[in-house]
Amino acid sequence: MDSAAKQRVKLWLRSERAMGQPSVVAPKDMISLDEEENASQAGRLNEDTRVAPAPRVVMQRSQPIMPVKKTTVATPQPVLIQAHAAHPFTAPLLPVEQRKIALAAMDSKEVKTCTRCRLCETRTNTVFGEGSAEAKIFFVGEGPGENEDLTGRPFVGRAGQLLDKMIVGMGLSREQVMIANIVKCRPPANRVPLPDEVATCTPYLERQLEIVRPAVIVTLGLPALKYMLSNPKLTMGRMRGQWQSWRGIKLMPTFHPSYVLRSYTDEVRAAVWSDLQAVLIELGIPVPKRGKSGG
Ligand code: URA
Repeated sequence: MDSAAKQRVKLWLRSERAMGQPSVVAPKDMISLDEEENASQAGRLNEDTRVAPAPRVVMQRSQPIMPVKKTTVATPQPVLIQAHAAHPFTAPLLPVEQRKIALAAMDSKEVKTCTRCRLCETRTNTVFGEGSAEAKIFFVGEGPGENEDLTGRPFVGRAGQLLDKMIVGMGLSREQVMIANIVKCRPPANRVPLPDEVATCTPYLERQLEIVRPAVIVTLGLPALKYMLSNPKLTMGRMRGQWQSWRGIKLMPTFHPSYVLRSYTDEVRAAVWSDLQAVLIELGIPVPKRGKSGG
């Protein structure tokens, strides 16, 4: 397989995962591709952040879906490449100053100049994310909107103002948490990011998460949740408020602030507040009385 074909296969595997295919049946010669992809990801991580490589994907045997030549020689079974969401980070956490350096380096050397997908053609600015490198809470949104694209900062439009109120309502400030998105460039007309865009961009988010290693991830809206849990069939109705786990980090799914703005009912606001309260309780942070923020 030539290198261009290998690249396409790698992208396909990532986009399968991004679309929520938790396990992809891979023919034998692709196993090394995935290992290669992990190795190069880990290489970049080591180079930029001095964090040890993430654990390798676990391979399991399964039935083939590709036609297999009949032969009398026992052929190795194809394998399932498991979504890595289940594997906790094992490398030691960096000291906070090094985390800041690693994040800044990723932004300036990689994200700001990124041309890996079509979204670079229409963006004004990349939106890396912002907040504390030692944040205990990491909010994950969907993608920059118009205001974020113009300013290069996450959640600064109307939805951002509501997110700010939610954070203040928790008794915290924006500077104490981390906020980022699954894609770093604005999808045209604010459409939902396409699976290949998510697949191409999310290694950045995953490295941000590995560097910051928050105690809790809060996903805002369904696209972020589906990506983090590698499952396209999830619904907000069933998942919201239910603790999940991503690589050993507790994950709380809640509504996207844009949805809250569109459905500004007592019920929806109470649901979000209950999710945020659960996060505070998990972290042992005193829960302020509701209403303080006006959110
Ligand atoms: N919506 C998002 O999901 N992210 C932003 O940064 C802004 C709006």
